Amino acid sequence: MSEQATLDPTSDQQEAESASVDWAKLRRESGNALRRRTITHIKNRTTDLAEGPMLVDPAVYTDSARHEQERRVLFRERPVLAALSCDLPAPGDTFLFDETGPSILLVRNKEGKVNAFLNMCMHRAAKLVTEPKRKVRMSCRFHGWTFDLDGKLVGIPGAEGFKGIEKEERSLIPVPVAEWHGLIFVRAVPNGEPIDVEAHLGKDFARELAHLELAQARPMKSTSFGVNANWKYAMDTYGEGYHFATLHPTSIGALALSNIMSYDNYGPNHRMEMPRAEFLEYSDKPEEEWPDTTYNGLYYIFPNVVINVNSIKGGKQFYGISRIFPNDKVDEATTVITTYKPASMKEFDEEEPWTEMHDFIVKVVSTEDYSVSQEGQHNMMYAPPGFKPVLGANELALQNIHRHISRLLEEAGN
Ligand code: FES
Ligand SMILES: [Fe+2]
Repeated sequence: MSEQATLDPTSDQQEAESASVDWAKLRRESGNALRRRTITHIKNRTTDLAEGPMLVDPAVYTDSARHEQERRVLFRERPVLAALSCDLPAPGDTFLFDETGPSILLVRNKEGKVNAFLNMCMHRAAKLVTEPKRKVRMSCRFHGWTFDLDGKLVGIPGAEGFKGIEKEERSLIPVPVAEWHGLIFVRAVPNGEPIDVEAHLGKDFARELAHLELAQARPMKSTSFGVNANWKYAMDTYGEGYHFATLHPTSIGALALSNIMSYDNYGPNHRMEMPRAEFLEYSDKPEEEWPDTTYNGLYYIFPNVVINVNSIKGGKQFYGISRIFPNDKVDEATTVITTYKPASMKEFDEEEPWTEMHDFIVKVVSTEDYSVSQEGQHNMMYAPPGFKPVLGANELALQNIHRHISRLLEEAGN
């Protein structure tokens, strides 16, 4: 996954903006602002808190009808992160996004613009692209109908069999797509309204994400794995550090302090910082003497994305992007974790620090966090009437996520 991008995939406007902005400085300032609060929490042994605990109905995790509604309302009708620009860096690159139901085909056209279509041949609906490779045009493996990179039907073998069928009416069916600062969002609604990413993310949160310069990040390793738990039970494990010392005594718990968190809420999205043990080494020093920060917290993009901006040995930094998708069944989910080398690390040629960190995180999530998720999910399926799990005031990120989900489902109706 180390192929060099051959095209800078930011838009002209974003490119112009990027050139005039000192992203590293903004990132540092923003990180330090959060760090000041976290250090105060460490000293006072406090954490950001919600007003109080919140009870959750187990049906939230176990009800199949609600699950279907979530898949439709949250994952198909609203924009979701489908890819990063570096997943399809050059004209002709294709990428498949199949995790939310319909197979979505992303393709970068000759001009460098990303198109998204239902990955469905307009002859008899076969899956058009099955192997995402760089292409000049796309041919269906069933009977060879061929489409250009803008989805136009350009070739029908045995065309005499299709007299009266207008080629122009058999273009691939587009779905809304938007590429913004290295992130590519799609909405799986055929011919749907365009996506305004900044409006979707909110201006303040969008600015925080822009600091990360994700358009220049390089993917180092990606792993996809399943879990026998509702996607939210899996997702919940990313939103609190209350469990670090107990569930992860020798892994994350050896690196980070438990039950301390600074939390910034941006509508349904958030950013949080859970302190690493080494913050204590410089917490009494003036801020000017703090090390250049390589840890900038966790960014959560509603409903299912966590970007972990964190440090690895030798003062290097990595981005770990986890995405959790609901499967067909209410108690099954798929997690895709990809580890990136940030733009600020491009002077380092080696890959091992990033691939090793990737393997460590995948191991911790799959063997520690998700073993609990699976057990908890199982118990929730058999929970006695009246039992309600409780999200503590110190688990406020989870409270907000669950509230937003319920509100969106209510607004959408049944
Ligand atoms: S279904 Fe694609 S060419 Fe026939
Ligand atoms: Fe965990």
